[in-house]
Amino acid sequence: MTTRPTNEVSIQQWNTMPREVMEAMEPDGDFAKRHLINPVLLRMLGDVRGRCVLDAGCGQGYFSRMLATRGAHVTGVEPADAMFAYSQEKELALQQGIHYIQADLTRIPDLGSGYDAVVCSMVLPAIPDWKPAMRACVQALRPGGLFLFSVNHPAFEQLLATWRKHGEYRLRRYLEEYEIPLTHATDFHRPISAYLNELAELGCRLREIAEPGLEPDIARETADSEPGIESYVHVPNFLIVAAEHP
Ligand SMILES: C[S@@+](CC[C@H](N)C(=O)[O-])C[C@H]1O[C@@H](n2cnc3c(N)ncnc32)[C@H](O)[C@@H]1O
Repeated sequence: MTTRPTNEVSIQQWNTMPREVMEAMEPDGDFAKRHLINPVLLRMLGDVRGRCVLDAGCGQGYFSRMLATRGAHVTGVEPADAMFAYSQEKELALQQGIHYIQADLTRIPDLGSGYDAVVCSMVLPAIPDWKPAMRACVQALRPGGLFLFSVNHPAFEQLLATWRKHGEYRLRRYLEEYEIPLTHATDFHRPISAYLNELAELGCRLREIAEPGLEPDIARETADSEPGIESYVHVPNFLIVAAEHP
C-alpha cells in the first residue's frame, strides 16, 4: 500500500523547481496562465486598486506582481524556499510593495481577517492535506470578501497528454483521489464535489464557476509548437471558482 506524502514532503518537491523555469514564467506566467487563467482571475477580481489581496501559494510571485502593477496591496504566501527567495528577490529589484510571507497555508501564522480578496491559483491540488489551506484562505477574508481558486479541471485531468496520444480525451477514473506526477512535484486529483462541498462547509456563497476555453485563433497560431493544443478550445483544462465569504 502506498502512503500519501505529507504536506512537508510536497513542499520540498516544489523546492526542486529550477530557476530557469521560474524565470520563464516572467512576466505573466506560462501559456496556459496567460490565455486561460489570468484573464478569468482578473475579470473576477475587478478593479483591485487600493484593495488588499492575498496570493495564497504564490509560487515565484508572477500573479502578485500583476496585481501590484494594477494597484492592489498584495501579500504573497509561499512555503517553498526557492520560490519564496525568487519572489523576494524580484520585490527587492522592483520595489512594488508586495509583502511576502514564507509559510505553509495549512499552518499559517495569523494573517488577520481583513483581505478584500484571496486568490489561491493552482495550489489546492498541490497540497495532500488541503482542507485546512482552503479554510485559511476563507478565514483571511473580510466579511463579503472574494475567494478565488483555480485547479486543473478534475474531469479533464492531463488533457493535453491524453489528447496527443488518442486525438480525444479519455478518462479511466474520477471518483477516488490519486496522485499525478508532474515534472517537479506531485498534484492530487480530487473530484469537483470535494472542492465545492468544502466551500459550502465553510459557509461560502458560490458566485461563479468558469471553465475557460482557448480562442481558436490562438490555438491555430500555436498548433505547430504545441501539438494537441486544439483540445483547449473544445474541452476546459481549468476550473476557476469565485465565492464570497459569508
Ligand atoms: C502550481 S504552483 C502555483 C503557484 C502560483 N499560484 C502560480 O499560479 O504560479 C503550486 C504552488 O503551491 C505551493 N504549495 C504547495 N504546498 C503548499 C502549502 N501547504 N501551502 C502553501 N502553498 C503550497 C507550491 O510551493 C507552489 O508554489
